Amino acid sequence: MANPSLLILPGDGIGPEVMAEVRKIIDWFGAKRGLVFDVSEDLVGGAAYDVHGVPLADATMAKAQEVDAVLLGAVGGPKYDKLDFSVKPERGLLRLRKEMDLYSNLRPAQCFDALADFSSLKKDIIAGLDIMIVRELTSGVYFGEPRGIFTEGNERVGINTQRYTESEIARVARSAFELARRRGNKVCSMEKANVMESGILWRDVVQEVHDKEYPDVELSHMYADNGAMQLVRWPKQFDVIVTDNLFGDVLSDCAAMLTGSLGMLPSASLGAPMANGRPKALYEPVHGSAPDIAGQGKANPIACVLSFAMALRYSFDRGEDADRLEKAVEKVLADGVRTADLMQNAGETAVTTSQMGDAIVAALDASL
Ligand code: NAI
Ligand code: MG
Repeated sequence: MANPSLLILPGDGIGPEVMAEVRKIIDWFGAKRGLVFDVSEDLVGGAAYDVHGVPLADATMAKAQEVDAVLLGAVGGPKYDKLDFSVKPERGLLRLRKEMDLYSNLRPAQCFDALADFSSLKKDIIAGLDIMIVRELTSGVYFGEPRGIFTEGNERVGINTQRYTESEIARVARSAFELARRRGNKVCSMEKANVMESGILWRDVVQEVHDKEYPDVELSHMYADNGAMQLVRWPKQFDVIVTDNLFGDVLSDCAAMLTGSLGMLPSASLGAPMANGRPKALYEPVHGSAPDIAGQGKANPIACVLSFAMALRYSFDRGEDADRLEKAVEKVLADGVRTADLMQNAGETAVTTSQMGDAIVAALDASL
């Protein structure tokens, strides 16, 4: 059987720096676990614009459609801020998400014990937290028509439209139920069915998919504003949360920050199954290109490393190896290894991006 294929798009700023550490880990799995990937690397974002005049070349897009998974660093930076909207670095990422039809965005919020003090919440509220937010990513108010700024009488009016079809809701609901079966078997669906018709449909369709296809999974519904409160009050009540694009944008940022630094947060964006049964998939850290620290060896590579762990789990069915990698990260943190963004106390010294990567590889070695 052919090796699984990975397309690596390091992008801009700290993207290439954190990706270099993930390359070490990919090589480790090849050498020590017999998990050899066909890896290709290409340009995205400003890096692609510099060479091709567009933030994602057609050939790169075609390649992304063919591979088993795409791993992306980050895009953007001040150098590109004045570019026309149509060629901004972010458009490269949006094109990938749109053309691969990645409708299910997975954002875990997981607390590593060694960093429990790092949260703005009390330790007993956060310790052991492990929840997953599933955000619908390709529809809803960010895409609905009509949209625009119009003139009505003598004033301007800004319009966006929340629009969801039944099938759009059903497919992301299925993705959440499938995930729940591999975790705590519990889904909480969030909308505002009290004030929005699209929310009423959301609630109905999620319930129908549940009753027909996933009656074994525990399902509850919650208004999204209450959901925000509950996330901060007692986040451990949740396992999987499924919600629309807009609420998911806000709730996933809120949940993620429960656990500490932006440098720790991975994500996956999944689409429909391909011919080989694997979902279309893009894995990327939540953070951006961090121009303020780029080129200084300060970036925390863990978000990108954990994104690769998600790839092992969700694209390559290597849950044990994903666990192994997450445990290696946990061990390194427990040993007190910290990049600058994870420093809490005066007197601690930070390791570089590359030293953090090496420490994770050493912990992987120790796991054998
Ligand atoms: P950012 O996530 O790049 O940085 C926010 C803050 O967090 C900065 O102080 C940065 O130094 C720190 N930070 C981020 N990642 C870190 C890491 N791995 N280790 C240590 N510290 C880290 O967000 P910002 O500053 O709003 O945006 C910078 C650029 O990135 C912009 O051009 C923006 O458009 C782009 N961006 C790209 C994203 C992507 O590629 N998915 C997502 C968010 C922003
Ligand atoms: Mg956001």
